[in-house]
Amino acid sequence: MSAIRFENVSRQFAGTVRPSVDNCSFDVEEGTFVVLLGPSGCGKTTLLKMVNRLYEPTTGRIYIDGVDIRKLKVTTLRQRIGYVIQQIGLFPHMTVAQNVAVVPNLLGWSRERIAPRVDELLTLIELPPDEYRDRYPSQLSGGQQQRVGLARALAGDPRLMLMDEPFGAIDAITRAGLQTEMLRLQRQLKKTILFVTHDVEEALRLADKIVIMQAGRIVQYDTPFTILTQPASTFVHDLVGADDMVRQLSLLRVESAMADIPVNYHRNGEPTIDAQDDLRAALSLLLRTGVNALTVLHDTRAVGILSLEHIRDSASGRSSV
Ligand SMILES: Nc1ncnc2c1ncn2[C@@H]1O[C@H](COP(=O)(O)OP(=O)(O)OP(=O)(O)O)[C@@H](O)[C@H]1O
Ligand SMILES: [Mg+2]
Repeated sequence: MSAIRFENVSRQFAGTVRPSVDNCSFDVEEGTFVVLLGPSGCGKTTLLKMVNRLYEPTTGRIYIDGVDIRKLKVTTLRQRIGYVIQQIGLFPHMTVAQNVAVVPNLLGWSRERIAPRVDELLTLIELPPDEYRDRYPSQLSGGQQQRVGLARALAGDPRLMLMDEPFGAIDAITRAGLQTEMLRLQRQLKKTILFVTHDVEEALRLADKIVIMQAGRIVQYDTPFTILTQPASTFVHDLVGADDMVRQLSLLRVESAMADIPVNYHRNGEPTIDAQDDLRAALSLLLRTGVNALTVLHDTRAVGILSLEHIRDSASGRSSV
C-alpha cells in the first residue's frame, strides 16, 4: 500500500479558465523522498495543499495509507503531517523551544515528555539546545530559522512531511548545507516526504523520485537518473538540462549507476565509495587509483560495485537521447 495515492486529482479555482491541477495520478511509496518540480504556476503548491486539505480537489481522490483523506477529521489529518513552508512561519514572540513544542502541546504531551523531545530535535538539526533553546527567531540566521521550522515539523514525529520550497528564501551556500543536512536526516529518519521546488539541482540532489509538472499535468514521474537519461519530452529535457554531462555526474548518486555485487566477488582492499556520493567523485577516485571497480558501501555494508563502464553506460544512455 502506498503512503500517499493521488487518483485523478484536479483542482480548478473559481474564475479561472483551466484547472490549476489537472487529472494527476501517482503513488508515493512509504519512506521515499518525492520532489514536485516544475515552473512557477504549474500547480505544485496547489497539489501539495490538497494533501493536508488546505484545498479540496474539484474531482479525484487522495488516500493516505489507503484511507480516503475526506474520511479523516481535518485536525487529525494535519497533526499526522509535518508541514514546512517557504516563509518559515516561526512565531516571533515564542522562543525556539516553544516553537518546536507547538505540535506536541497540541497533542497534549506532558511537560516531562516535551522538554527532552525539543532538545533531541535541536541536537538533530545541529543547534546545540543549551545555546539555542531560549533564543527568539529574530536572533537566528535565515538558515537556522529554517532548521527550526524543520524541527517543528518533525516534533510530533509525523511519518509524512510536506515541504513547500523550504529553502527557497535562503542563499546558495546555506542552501547547499541544508540540503546535505536534509539528506542525512532522511537517511536516519526515513520519513515519507513530498517536497516542492522549482530548483532543478535541488530536485536531482534530494529526490528518490521526481514528479515533473507542466501546466497542472504530470509529464514524467521517475528517478533522477531516468529523468536525466530518458526525459519524456523536449520540455523535460530542457528543464533538467539533460545535455550537460559533467554537471549530471555531480548530481547523480553512485547508487543510481552501480551494479550488483557479482556472485564470486571477493573484496581485497579496493577503494570504497559511499552509495550516496556523486558519480563525479566516483569518477575521480577511479581515475586517481587506477582500479577496475570501486566497492560501494551503504554505512559499512558492501551493496554494489562501480566501474568506469558503469559510469560510461550512464553517460552513453544520456548522449543517445
Ligand atoms: N487561490 C487561488 N485562486 C485562483 N487561482 C489560484 C489560486 N491559487 C493558485 N492559483 C493559480 O493556480 C495555478 C497554480 O498555482 P500554484 O501556486 O499551485 O503554482 P506553483 O507551481 O506552486 O508555483 P510557484 O513555483 O510560483 O510557487 C497558478 O496559475 C495560480 O495563479
Ligand atoms: Mg508554489
